[in-house]
Amino acid sequence: MKLSLSILDFDLSNLNNELEPLYDSIDYIHLDVMDGVFVPNISFGPALIKSLRNKTKVVFDTHLMITEPIRYIEKFVSAGSDIITIHLEATKEIRKTLELIKSHNILAGISIKPNTNVDEILPYLDLVDLVLVMSVEPGFGGQKFMENSIKKLEALRELQLKYNFKISIDGGINLETIKLIKDKTDIFVVGSQVAKADDKIMTIKKLKDA
Ligand code: DX5
Ligand code: ZN
Repeated sequence: MKLSLSILDFDLSNLNNELEPLYDSIDYIHLDVMDGVFVPNISFGPALIKSLRNKTKVVFDTHLMITEPIRYIEKFVSAGSDIITIHLEATKEIRKTLELIKSHNILAGISIKPNTNVDEILPYLDLVDLVLVMSVEPGFGGQKFMENSIKKLEALRELQLKYNFKISIDGGINLETIKLIKDKTDIFVVGSQVAKADDKIMTIKKLKDA
């Protein structure tokens, strides 16, 4: 299982200093982009991602919680994203947006909110490299893990027999909830549990060893 570290709850004014000791322990950096329209919160955009890009070679896993993401794909590619994930609920132009991401030779992901069923992404599984299951309502870090996500992971595991994508889960992962999902996902996103830990490296290690 790979760990994708969400920076949302880190001190953004001191980001590289906070992350530098962690780069060797994590697999991906998870970049939660929010527009205040698709979700009721605004986070950061391509400028912050770009400023971090020359500090580390860690894979940049960009999670776009923005409406009509096709408008900004180029910006997030040139900021240095290695993976760009869009939301099924954010646009009608899913296929076109995924194709645009892939045309830049980076990986494309699709994400579903807690009330969206796996069935709804079936038409796109031939195109995506990653499916991101939201286990909280997107918008904020530090929320409680929603157990209805577990069934979705199981359904996706079966679909992996037929398609070539990785499964990721995002929201409310901690040392307890990780036990519920550890055999059912390829990647997990974690934010507040690490951000608030006194010993961040040890917390990362415990999560990965779970
Ligand atoms: C929620 C974000 C998540 C979240 C992760 O909208 O997509 O990445 O911030 O943070 P925790 O681990 O605190 O739920
Ligand atoms: Zn996220």
